[in-house]
Amino acid sequence: MGTYTIIATSAMGLEAIVAREVKDLGYDCRVENGKVIFKGDETAIARANMWLRTADRIKILVGEFKAYSFDELFENTKKLPWENYLPEDAEFPVQGKSVKSKLYSVPDCQAIVKKAIVERVRKAYKRTSWLDETGPLFKIEVAILKDTASITLDTSGQGLHKRGYRIGQGEAPLKETLAAALIKLTTWNPERPFLDPFCGSGTIPIEAAMIGQNIAPGFNREFLSENWSFIAKDIWDKVRMEAEDLANYDQPLEIFGTDIDHRMINISKENALEAGLGDLVKFKQMQVKDFVTDLEYGVVVGNPPYGERLGERPEVEKMYKEMGQAFNKLDTWSVYMLTSHEDFEQFYGKPATKKRKLFNGFIRTDYYQYFGPRPPRKDKHEA
Ligand SMILES: C[S@@+](CC[C@H](N)C(=O)[O-])C[C@H]1O[C@@H](n2cnc3c(N)ncnc32)[C@H](O)[C@@H]1O
Repeated sequence: MGTYTIIATSAMGLEAIVAREVKDLGYDCRVENGKVIFKGDETAIARANMWLRTADRIKILVGEFKAYSFDELFENTKKLPWENYLPEDAEFPVQGKSVKSKLYSVPDCQAIVKKAIVERVRKAYKRTSWLDETGPLFKIEVAILKDTASITLDTSGQGLHKRGYRIGQGEAPLKETLAAALIKLTTWNPERPFLDPFCGSGTIPIEAAMIGQNIAPGFNREFLSENWSFIAKDIWDKVRMEAEDLANYDQPLEIFGTDIDHRMINISKENALEAGLGDLVKFKQMQVKDFVTDLEYGVVVGNPPYGERLGERPEVEKMYKEMGQAFNKLDTWSVYMLTSHEDFEQFYGKPATKKRKLFNGFIRTDYYQYFGPRPPRKDKHEA
């Protein structure tokens, strides 16, 4: 077992939520811009991929050093123990980025890092000929920030938002990682009802159901590092078995997804089936203004249209107003809405208890949070 410096990359603004997830997995961590960094072994790499709902990718930091010249970049890259990671036939493309650094030519940095690794690997495997690169894929990145080069290996492959269940989607689907973060920012727990009144392709309710039943977000997909020999196959098997054991399929849930567009409801149902949730989430075509319920202490999380396109704004503002009127009647519920509309509170009809700036892709949004009362504590002898 080795010890690695592991980086869970995160969307801007979600670092604290990713860090909480990393701590919940049992690893101490520190936070930098867009990154949560922790130490762990091969099992930690597999578990982070399997369990982190809000991180973008899991990377291994292979080395970090100052690089003011191409020579320094080359020599320091060559010093790293690449043969511990790469087999002789590894395919290893190198991506790069550079910010505020002397070495600003990204194609040159990539080429130099590639050359240094090739030299190291050829020597380590005593190759006289060129490397074939016909084997497993290792995606390497050289990121240079203020003359410090960090060289990482991407263990995830496809971004962690690709859970494998979204076979259909609407116009503006939310990233699964952001959907999970929106839920984690609420006080929802599986005992409370949950509603997304703008469910689109069902991302938020599906993520809520997976959180509610403790289903690992990575259970339905594969990761690039499953093909690497330094992470033994039985580690992945154990991590998958652990995920199976920890899932609580018996947890009852009251999760609803509604949308004005019946086509979206069909897509949501298909995605939920693909996620293995059957008909656990109740999807129904409905306008937000028509939502009524006798259930209490529920939580609403929604990503409504923002009205950014020309001509859409008045209609969206009218809808926000109607939503405010409908939800005002649910006096025990908490409501959380993500939108880029700066005057959301004015149309919704009341100021939010709390606002949090978040990016939905490149769109700057606010997460408007209206806290309802806490549900009464259940008597231990009840139920
Ligand atoms: C930004 S999309 C939500 C995307 C969703 N979070 C996902 O991941 O697919 C907004 C959704 O609101 C729905 N919508 C628009 N007006 C509505 C209304 N008055 N009542 C309910 N849903 C509405 C649209 O049909 C659309 O699917």
